[in-house]
Amino acid sequence: MSKPESSQLALRYAIIAIVVGGLALLFYAVASGLGQRIVTAQEFVDYQEAGNPHLGFRRAHAKGFCIAGEFISSNHVGPYTTASVFNERSTPFVGRISTGGSNPTAPDLASSVRSLALSFNPGTRDAWNTAMNTPPVMPVRTPDAFFAQANAFAPDPETGERNPERIAEFLAAHPETQAAREWQASYTPTGSFATETYHSINAFFLVDDEGSKRAIRWSARPSSHTVPDSVIELDDDPNALRNELVARLENRPVMFDLIFTFANEDDDETDPTVFWGDDRTQRLAGVISIHSATTEAEGNCDGINFDPLILPRGMAATDDKILRARSAAYAESYRRRARENLFQAREGGSQ
Ligand code: HEM
Repeated sequence: MSKPESSQLALRYAIIAIVVGGLALLFYAVASGLGQRIVTAQEFVDYQEAGNPHLGFRRAHAKGFCIAGEFISSNHVGPYTTASVFNERSTPFVGRISTGGSNPTAPDLASSVRSLALSFNPGTRDAWNTAMNTPPVMPVRTPDAFFAQANAFAPDPETGERNPERIAEFLAAHPETQAAREWQASYTPTGSFATETYHSINAFFLVDDEGSKRAIRWSARPSSHTVPDSVIELDDDPNALRNELVARLENRPVMFDLIFTFANEDDDETDPTVFWGDDRTQRLAGVISIHSATTEAEGNCDGINFDPLILPRGMAATDDKILRARSAAYAESYRRRARENLFQAREGGSQ
């Protein structure tokens, strides 16, 4: 090959390399949101497993039991939504009461988060699943920040202790955690699942028959008929709170008022870190009446994915980024445990 021919060839290869390299960079930039990395559902669930998955169980809120009952609509919110659950007198539900954490045998009283999840009209266009927690707000507003927070608060694998410096650094960089921290400082867990208030935290839209949307959050508050204290003495049984609820149900249903809080004009429905106070318009949507509680083994809630994006006609998701992350992470957790259950690998838990 003559010299000019070889330098032409080298130039051609250089151009090909630049084009291919440029395309690869462009692809990476687009895939990673132009520099903004997005944490994946797999990463969330890997984090929750912490290298020690409890086979066959939910990767978060692993400890729980099934409930069943009916929702009795108040007819006060029917004008704001076409959802059948708020327009029919009564709708049965299956649900699950749980505590936070990934250990299915952890003592009920050890968890700082208690939860109520409900599923209405499964398998229809009017299906509605909701999972509510005791805190009224999220500490952060994006999935990435949530993941960063989880890592900042994770114990050091060597010492088993949390790293105060790492936590302080995270909190300094995330002033939006303030409302959650204030709530945490003021919260005292009650002696019963029946006397807690559970929150949707994220906002959703009600959609009326003309397609108009109104942003709301909801909370399940103990009905005024609820006996305020524990009905049995709580002992050190790991299922102490479940036993207490079962004892209540022997006498009468356990009831919660489902309250809708409507956004003010200034509220950003995509931001779950801001508390929506009682000064906003509130409506009683109806009464959640729990009639029975059974273990997961006996009940039929184990196969339910309480994905917050399973919404009926007449309700819609907001653009809150946490909602999408939740939906993806619940699906990943569901996929893993469904696969393990298929191969009958579920560990023996207390449930
Ligand atoms: C980015 C934020 C969040 C992530 C990554 C996350 C992740 C998860 C995962 C993986 C599960 C297990 C799902 C299953 O296997 O069925 C779960 C369950 C649950 N989550 Fe979250 N979650 C988040 C935020 C929230 C928020 C804001 C709430 C409260 C409104 C909440 C309430 C619940 C409840 C109540 C359950 C248990 C539902 C049941 O009984 O099956 N989560 N979460």
